[in-house]
Amino acid sequence: MELSEVMRTTAAVRDFTDEPVPDDVLYAILDDARFAPSGGNRQGWRVVVVQDPAQRRRLADLCAPVWGEYMAQGVLGETPFSVVRPTRADLAAAAADPPPNPLFAHIETVPVVLVVAVDLGALAVSDKDLDRHSIVGGGSVYPFCHNILLAARDRGVGGVMTTFLARAEDGARDVLGLPDGYAIASMAVLGHPVKQLTRLRRAAVEDVTTVDRFDGAPFTG
Ligand SMILES: Cc1cc2nc3c(=O)[nH]c(=O)nc-3n(C[C@H](O)[C@H](O)[C@H](O)COP(=O)(O)O)c2cc1C
Repeated sequence: MELSEVMRTTAAVRDFTDEPVPDDVLYAILDDARFAPSGGNRQGWRVVVVQDPAQRRRLADLCAPVWGEYMAQGVLGETPFSVVRPTRADLAAAAADPPPNPLFAHIETVPVVLVVAVDLGALAVSDKDLDRHSIVGGGSVYPFCHNILLAARDRGVGGVMTTFLARAEDGARDVLGLPDGYAIASMAVLGHPVKQLTRLRRAAVEDVTTVDRFDGAPFTG
């Protein structure tokens, strides 16, 4: 596929056919994804290919309460887990009684489950001392995560990165044997899409791009 088409059509896919993704295809996807950039080219990412159904179940069970929290905030019209606005949701109640999630319900049969972790010691976090939530560190691992999805799409494979597991990191640390100093960046699932969406809803360039200043004129090309 053309790169432009891959970028424009890599939709979040959560529903997969039974067709397996062979290990050599997964290897090729990761082999492309590893060319992602990272601060100082430190490449702090590590990937666990979770094949054991029991391991997958443990991870999905860790994610389920977070899904409950996410949904409870979403139905209130909030951005879930916002760092700038406190939630009005009762997170404890939501976590205790999460709604069903088809991905977690069928995690054992999803063709590919990956956990991407990152070595915190490899992150160059230039905004770490600002008096606000830090954002830069993620930039050294999420390009890699998205590269996985792009490389998958190029091979007719779909998927989605999820971040529920990051909130359940303490439990995931035990399940995965994740060493201290490593953080969970995402849990990604891959497979052949039941339906491939190709028209993604995204804001136009001029709606998110301005000239010279944040409040400058829209950049229209
Ligand atoms: C950093 C990040 C975190 C995400 N976390 C989740 C998640 O926890 N669960 C999930 O189902 N999708 C998750 N997604 C997928 C988004 O929901 C998806 O990219 C977005 O809704 C756009 O979907 P579309 O490409 O199909 O239009 C995440 C995406 C990103 C980039």
